Amino acid sequence: MAFAFFAVVLLAYCNLVSSHGSFYPRADNFTSPFANGGSWSDGFAQAKALVDQMTIEEKVVNITTGYTGKCVGFTGEVPRLNLRALCLQDGPLGVRPARRVSQFPAGVTTAATWNRTLMAARAVALGQEFRDKGVCLASLSDWLGPVTGGPLGRSPYMGRNWEGFSPDSYLNGVASYLSVKHSQEQGVLTCAKHYIAYEQETFRNPYGLPDPSFPPFVQSPVSSNFDDRTAHEVYLWPFAEAVRAGTGTVMCSYNELNGTHSCADDHTLNYLLKTELGFQGSVISDWGGTWDTEASALGGLDISMPGTAFDGLFGDFYGDELIALVKNGSVSEARLDDMALRTLTPIFQYQDLDTYPEPSFDVRDLTLPTNNVRGDHYKVIRDIGEEALTLVKNNRKSGGGLPLPKPSSLGSLAVIGEDAGPSPYGATSCGDAGNACLIENNGTMTSGGGSGWAYPPYTIDPLAAINSFVRADGPDINSHLENWDLASAALQASRSETALVFISAYAAEGTDRFNLSAYSNGDALVKAVAAVNNNTIVVLHIPGPVIVEEWIEHENVTAVLVAHLPGQESGNSLVPVLWGEKSPSGKLPYTFAKKESDWPPNTISSDPVIAPQANFTEKLLIDYKWFDAKNITPRWEFGFGLSYTTFKFGTLSIAKTFKADTTSIQPTAESFAKLSDSGSSMYDILYTATVQVTNTGKVQGAEVAQLYLSFPASADEPPFVLRGFDKLDLVPGEHKTATFELTRKDLSVWDVAHQRWEVPQGTFTLSVGASSRDLQSAVTHKFA
Ligand SMILES: *[C@@H]1O[C@H](CO)[C@@H](O)[C@H](O)[C@H]1NC(C)=O
Ligand SMILES: *[C@@H]1O[C@H](CO)[C@@H](O)[C@H](O)[C@H]1NC(C)=O
Ligand SMILES: *[C@@H]1O[C@H](CO)[C@@H](O)[C@H](O)[C@H]1NC(C)=O
Ligand SMILES: *[C@@H]1O[C@H](CO)[C@@H](O)[C@H](O)[C@H]1NC(C)=O
Ligand SMILES: *[C@@H]1O[C@H](CO)[C@@H](O)[C@H](O)[C@H]1NC(C)=O
Ligand SMILES: *[C@@H]1O[C@H](CO)[C@@H](O)[C@H](O)[C@H]1NC(C)=O
Ligand SMILES: *[C@@H]1O[C@H](CO)[C@@H](O)[C@H](O)[C@H]1NC(C)=O
Ligand SMILES: *[C@@H]1O[C@H](CO)[C@@H](O)[C@H](O)[C@H]1NC(C)=O
Ligand SMILES: *[C@@H]1O[C@H](CO)[C@@H](O)[C@H](O)[C@H]1NC(C)=O
Ligand SMILES: *[C@@H]1O[C@H](CO)[C@@H](O)[C@H](O)[C@H]1NC(C)=O
Repeated sequence: MAFAFFAVVLLAYCNLVSSHGSFYPRADNFTSPFANGGSWSDGFAQAKALVDQMTIEEKVVNITTGYTGKCVGFTGEVPRLNLRALCLQDGPLGVRPARRVSQFPAGVTTAATWNRTLMAARAVALGQEFRDKGVCLASLSDWLGPVTGGPLGRSPYMGRNWEGFSPDSYLNGVASYLSVKHSQEQGVLTCAKHYIAYEQETFRNPYGLPDPSFPPFVQSPVSSNFDDRTAHEVYLWPFAEAVRAGTGTVMCSYNELNGTHSCADDHTLNYLLKTELGFQGSVISDWGGTWDTEASALGGLDISMPGTAFDGLFGDFYGDELIALVKNGSVSEARLDDMALRTLTPIFQYQDLDTYPEPSFDVRDLTLPTNNVRGDHYKVIRDIGEEALTLVKNNRKSGGGLPLPKPSSLGSLAVIGEDAGPSPYGATSCGDAGNACLIENNGTMTSGGGSGWAYPPYTIDPLAAINSFVRADGPDINSHLENWDLASAALQASRSETALVFISAYAAEGTDRFNLSAYSNGDALVKAVAAVNNNTIVVLHIPGPVIVEEWIEHENVTAVLVAHLPGQESGNSLVPVLWGEKSPSGKLPYTFAKKESDWPPNTISSDPVIAPQANFTEKLLIDYKWFDAKNITPRWEFGFGLSYTTFKFGTLSIAKTFKADTTSIQPTAESFAKLSDSGSSMYDILYTATVQVTNTGKVQGAEVAQLYLSFPASADEPPFVLRGFDKLDLVPGEHKTATFELTRKDLSVWDVAHQRWEVPQGTFTLSVGASSRDLQSAVTHKFA
């Protein structure tokens, strides 16, 4: 059967392939620029001293090629020169796969706090766990992390969006910068990933692991095709933030770019990354992202992972073939030196390999004893989960909605749904990528699946935290922890004064979301409960937007709280907000639509052709920028989130305040047209906008003041683009000033003809408010 199916597919699609060929003609031909270390002069000098003593074989075999070892990625060692092997390990929300580690909140959850202190604190704690486990290089979406804008979130269906922060390049960039800087300060190197325009799982096709509907090596990975302005303003932006924060490594992605494998694409690697952004570290292939040794070596790839590990599943690249290519001059020895220097420079800059811990675990046997690296990280995990809680509906009529009455005045509370309780199977049955537990919603959803998952040491599910909170003087708890027996769920809800319904949606690496509906009968569950309980409160554990229209206007659904993917402390994050000890202060880091067709069409290229193409025709119009430009009313807009108190915004003002850049740990070489200032960096602060925010309600709460720019019409930008945010914690009656520092880059657009950033001439409007559509004060200004 399978064979016959393949034959039919081949016949049907061979005709189409000839019309594709290379998508765009290639206009450029760069050679890999040689690193000089930039601001890492100490690390570079040490690396150079070592590389000068190495043979060609050592540079290739022991540095640039991966092997089987204790970690998901492992380089060789050079015992002769006292250089140890480097351990590379997933992933963006915890050390994976490994035990005795924490499961942190996902990237999207962290972004929903809009709190820079928490973004930094998460990076510190993650960095410590990786370091204390002996991981040299963490895949932050390459401790093999952070996921820095690849995926950014062009498509709401992309299975990995939750690993990253937000589809808004500015918010994503802030979180990426802080994640890189604060993790690397702990010693571990970060790997900003996945570079670049990796926006769908469908047809990602790593080497050796093709889409199952095609025979091996017939269908190429999907090609992301996008223009130069979109590249700079949308997809490159967060990577620029990671590079200037000093990320030691960048991971190239599975997809192709204009028909070239991203791990061999000299335009994006050699030119955009290593020349324009001035990146001094190494480029590492995603596991199976290398397809050819010579093309990748010349195209800008420095380390091929996982090399020969996993029994050669991902091919056999670099190694002996690279030695031969260097020896016969096809790849210069200078280029090979550059690979080794780029790899070792940030290692020496950030790590003392004599004292850095050895890996204390082995991915080949997770039952071996290993050290506990969790420290008190549960606190920052809980705090992020709490500050990420985003209240999107709250109807206080007749005493319903949130917060709940104090426990002693509530007689009964229903807690309904698989997503409210523990997993019946326990974490070790989940598998190293979590998939076994998550697909059918076995217990509360704390993370998505795939390499971005991590084993939780324990999970405080919502029911456990609620039970423990109400112990002395609270309501009776009537629970029903599954989603299909609607009559039993309704019975418990009908016996309760208030009902909490927990529903979820699942997403994981490897596949895209089939639809944007809640999983596991979730919508039917909400409707069954709301039919019998007039104070039904819905909590969503989700990786991205879901469609809520089946029940959102139901008169008995009084409140909805988006809890994102909170990690191991889920229930503890929730209780203080449910009972009003803390006011919710999360804001959506993406848009919720009313229907799937409100999103840009066909953002997942799924036609089963031999060379699938993803044309990024929406260009700059990602997420809210699309809804604004097309005048589509979303269910809840980007930046939206309610509070238990109210806030008033004063008058926005703007002043010229030149401050030379002090934030670029590694300077970029981006070109720009000067204004009349004397600055020399894209990241100089040219203007500061301020607005006073007052708490006009009755309880303490925090507001995220958001600054949106509307460029002069001639610039042809989206109607509103986020260019600043400031979160302020205020007691009743208190006011504080929200401050937004605007860099040259914040005010610029990418000029394709001049190949530089330029501040457009004409009148800008700056607007400030509580969301992208709740703008309360505006001011106009001409910058150029
Ligand atoms: C790049 O330059 C080399 C050497 O000059 C040349 O052989 C090659 O054809 C060029 N490649 C492209 C894609 O232009
Ligand atoms: C690396 O280099 C040394 C020789 O200097 C060799 O003994 C060692 O086995 C090499 N390979 C790996 C994978 O470490
Ligand atoms: C793809 O090709 C177009 C047209 O030549 C070019 O403008 C764009 O920069 C290319 N994109 C990438 C990522 O190479
Ligand atoms: C150089 O070596 C590679 C790998 O063995 C081989 O494929 C290629 O043909 C050689 N090129 C020359 C010019 O000898
Ligand atoms: C629910 O119904 C009860 C009984 O009629 C009423 O006392 C209560 O105020 C109602 N609650 C809401 C939120 O409508
Ligand atoms: C729960 O997880 C187990 C594996 O641990 C799996 O077999 C099962 O299908 C999942 N779903 C349900 C509803 O049990
Ligand atoms: C969404 O996709 C899931 C998984 O394929 C499926 O079970 C569910 O029925 C779909 N829901 C809708 C509303 O189409
Ligand atoms: C709301 O809940 C009450 C029970 O409190 C029920 O009688 C009523 O029918 C529900 N309303 C709807 C529209 O289902
Ligand atoms: C992508 O754009 C190219 C060039 O305009 C076009 O030939 C091709 O049909 C498009 N492919 C898809 C899947 O839209
Ligand atoms: C941001 O997080 C920190 C650390 O948890 C907290 O102290 C601070 O109050 C938060 N800021 C706001 C404005 O909520």
